[in-house]
Amino acid sequence: MRTQVAIIGAGPSGLLLGQLLSRAGIANTIVERQGPEYILGRVRAGVLEQVCVDLLDEAGVGERMHREGLVHGGFEMHFRGQRHRIDLHRLTGGRNVMVYGQTELTRDLMDARTAAQLPVVYSALNVRVQDFDTAQPVVHYETDGPEGTLQHALDCDFIAGCDGFHGVCRASVPAGAITAYEKVYPFGWLGILADVPPVSRELIYANTERGFALCSMRSPTRSRYYVQCALTDTVEQWSDEAFWTELRSRLDPQAREQLISGPSIEKSIAPLRSFVAEPMRFGRLFLAGDAAHIVPPTGAKGLNLAATDVKYLSGALIEHYQEQSNAGIDHYSDRCLRRVWKAERFSWWFTSLLHRFPDTAGFGQKVQEAELDYLVHSEAASRALAENYVGLPLNFGD
Ligand code: FAD
Ligand code: PHB
Repeated sequence: MRTQVAIIGAGPSGLLLGQLLSRAGIANTIVERQGPEYILGRVRAGVLEQVCVDLLDEAGVGERMHREGLVHGGFEMHFRGQRHRIDLHRLTGGRNVMVYGQTELTRDLMDARTAAQLPVVYSALNVRVQDFDTAQPVVHYETDGPEGTLQHALDCDFIAGCDGFHGVCRASVPAGAITAYEKVYPFGWLGILADVPPVSRELIYANTERGFALCSMRSPTRSRYYVQCALTDTVEQWSDEAFWTELRSRLDPQAREQLISGPSIEKSIAPLRSFVAEPMRFGRLFLAGDAAHIVPPTGAKGLNLAATDVKYLSGALIEHYQEQSNAGIDHYSDRCLRRVWKAERFSWWFTSLLHRFPDTAGFGQKVQEAELDYLVHSEAASRALAENYVGLPLNFGD
């Protein structure tokens, strides 16, 4: 078997890359460890930057997003019992974000791939990437068939490692060729999804003495809520009732009154981590999205960063095939990392501002409240927050 680009992973990075390459006439095969239902069952990101929205349009999969997604021109910050609005639209000269779940975006990309009859191998076992330091990389994997396990080898020109934080691609790079930067936070997020109307029209980020909370949504009838929890907490420990009580205790009086609770349809705990692997290219292997970097979800940057990696990677590969130029390929890692580190900085800062850190409880809370007070009352500080939240332009700093 042979293809031009072998893509490992059918998350948003892999599917979007496949879509952009296919539209440019570049053959690609996606090899994914899980089945499609498992992937669609993972509840993750919810907020898309304009750059990401534009990219989905460019990929020809934006139609349902524009119909069903919610355009938000602002969000609210709650601290010391009061809510303050950050007017993203005004502060950024007319930019917004789009509330549209990662699950929906993934479904749209999967449907487009199925409609175009493009190859995806789901439930691939024992995926290995080899010889990416030569001109003939190869992907080995196995599938289970009625006659037992089948071995496959997929020859290709390039391998795109879109296989997430725990994937095989980054792990296949010799240790001496990669540098990892990491920060692990001493708390997690307990999230629930429930078919109840959102407590407010826009998102609310709350800093309280009991810890962080976030009120988000997926639609006018489906809410996504989070509370900061201990790393040692388990989902089984948190009944729905305990979750709603805790969330309510972290809201301002008006939101507390308006909050409608209901049975959870999903409940999970995510640890928070900042991580960057440098570089993002090793010969003919490229890392993109969570395979190369992780941000804490506080600034809603994870999925958006994955999308911009893919924008740069698809552009570089199209340039290679259509113009016989390797300039994009050679600049891929540096271009991505420049953007990645700005999002890392923003996500780390926003996380540090909003969460309760066990070691600096009293003093830390006061300093955070002072910064929040400054942030919502200073036009310059609000604008810096808004500019980063809606996402820096693709050509920022060029
Ligand atoms: P992934 O979505 O992780 O996809 C990688 C794919 O590769 C998966 O389908 C996986 O099964 C597959 N794979 C893994 N190993 C192999 C292998 N060996 N062989 C073949 N395939 C393999 N971001 C936000 O902006 N907001 C949020 O609220 C938010 N919440 C999150 C909650 C959790 C629990 C996690 C883990 C992430 C969250 N993120 C959030 C981040 C966001 O979801 C990711 O940035 C985004 O999913 C990145 O997409 P990706 O395609 O790069 O990686
Ligand atoms: C979400 O809706 O899941 C969400 C929204 C904003 C964030 C993080 C997660 O900052």
